[in-house]
Amino acid sequence: MDELEIGVSTPGEGSPDALALPLTADDRTPPSADGLAAQLRQLAEDGELRGDLGRTVLLHTDGTSTARRVVVAGLGKRADVDADAVRTAAAAAVRRLRDSGGTLAWTLDESLPIPLEEQARAVVEGAVLGGYNPARWKTQEQDGKSIGKLLLVGGGDGVLDAARRAAAVSKWVNWARDLANSPPNELTPAGLAERAAGLAGANLRVETLDPTQIDELGMGALSAVGRASANGPRLIVLRYEPPNATGDVVLGLVGKAITFDAGGISLKPALKMYDMKGDMAGGAAVIAGTAAAAELQLPVRILTVVAAAENLVSGDSFRPGDILRAANGKTIEITNTDAEGRLVLADALWFARKEGATHVLDFATLTGAMEVALGDLYAGLFANDDAWRDDILGAAQTSGDHTWPFPLHRRYRRYVDSAYADMKNSSELRQAGAVLAAEFLREFSGDGPWAHIDMAGPGFLERSRGDYYTQRGGTGYGVRLIAELAQRLSA
Ligand code: BES
Ligand code: MN
Ligand code: ZN
Repeated sequence: MDELEIGVSTPGEGSPDALALPLTADDRTPPSADGLAAQLRQLAEDGELRGDLGRTVLLHTDGTSTARRVVVAGLGKRADVDADAVRTAAAAAVRRLRDSGGTLAWTLDESLPIPLEEQARAVVEGAVLGGYNPARWKTQEQDGKSIGKLLLVGGGDGVLDAARRAAAVSKWVNWARDLANSPPNELTPAGLAERAAGLAGANLRVETLDPTQIDELGMGALSAVGRASANGPRLIVLRYEPPNATGDVVLGLVGKAITFDAGGISLKPALKMYDMKGDMAGGAAVIAGTAAAAELQLPVRILTVVAAAENLVSGDSFRPGDILRAANGKTIEITNTDAEGRLVLADALWFARKEGATHVLDFATLTGAMEVALGDLYAGLFANDDAWRDDILGAAQTSGDHTWPFPLHRRYRRYVDSAYADMKNSSELRQAGAVLAAEFLREFSGDGPWAHIDMAGPGFLERSRGDYYTQRGGTGYGVRLIAELAQRLSA
């Protein structure tokens, strides 16, 4: 896997293949002109040079600049410039330079209300995530060259360090996107387990439980969901145990990995069912996030548990009306086989606690209701502990993985009461679907802080988001959040 090479430089130094000059919509010309002041002023007068967010102007120079190409990248209104604007501008610049590739020098801007280290981090994320190409399965060679090296102009050691970390993490974000975009005939539960096993290293152990072992542990919920498919379920377990681990925290990351969700007997409609190959995005995020933490050698223990299964239809499908027994002993009446995510997570959450996780956070493309509520930008966060929720929200905000808090309340629990069993897996109530799913999960979260992120909206896009996610498909949502959270837990 290629990682973007990072360096720092001073204005006018070297001869990069391209130089990026960010420009806000309030300014006529970029603060640094690199020998092109007159030409840029003329273009601004002509109305060709504008700093609208995501807009780019490409100039070819001939000895007037240190670079042969200069790309002016719009940041939008100065008052609205935030890290996302920088990511979007960087993504636009990189896409504009797709025909040339090579080394890009990005001019950091002291006058923006964002510290240089954060600017650098956002530039790297925008460049790497914006340059992602989902067309891996096309047989024709794709044209276009990607940027091989990024220089941050005006940065020092702090910028270099922040940018290198961002490059490492962003590479894992794109790795997670590749998994989510992988077709379900290629990425089965066993296939995902193999991808995870490939990450094993000095401080990272990877182990997979097969259907027999899943049954032996009494995981009746995961077992039932995965039963209809010839590609049986797997429980994938990663243990990151760095020798320099500080404190007693064991971060428990739990992920939903339904490699394809047909809905089971409660079959989904045909329209867009193909996008349900992305129903393993939570699982991909926790695996990639763990790999990122391991690569950065963060001194915090992580236990990662991924419930992988395929929710299909066959003569051996689990049915509406079935009553399952989960590993924690609770019984569940199945009222909708398409509410399978909470079932597989129930057993994975139990396993994470049993294996010693102190602070649990699960990621899942869990409910259509969450996507209806928040669209493709924010994920919803539910937690049984205020301090843990705040830790996660803080990390989320810095990371760029947008997350917003939603409520849990005992009063919601009655809607998942069953007449026959301890609870049912879906409600006929057509309200608060994402909250009811979270209330269900709470029953399996054990003792101690637990939080749940429903990323049904931002985890897998039906179309470009119009920012630095310019492609449909997997986003790698959660990987940056996990890396930032693990970093903070080890500080
Ligand atoms: N994987 C889906 C949720 C989903 C929907 C994710 C759209 C991404 C985009 C989940 O397994 C599901 O089918 N949930 C049901 C639950 C319902 C039956 C209670 C839903 O949201 O309709
Ligand atoms: Mn489903
Ligand atoms: Zn699902």
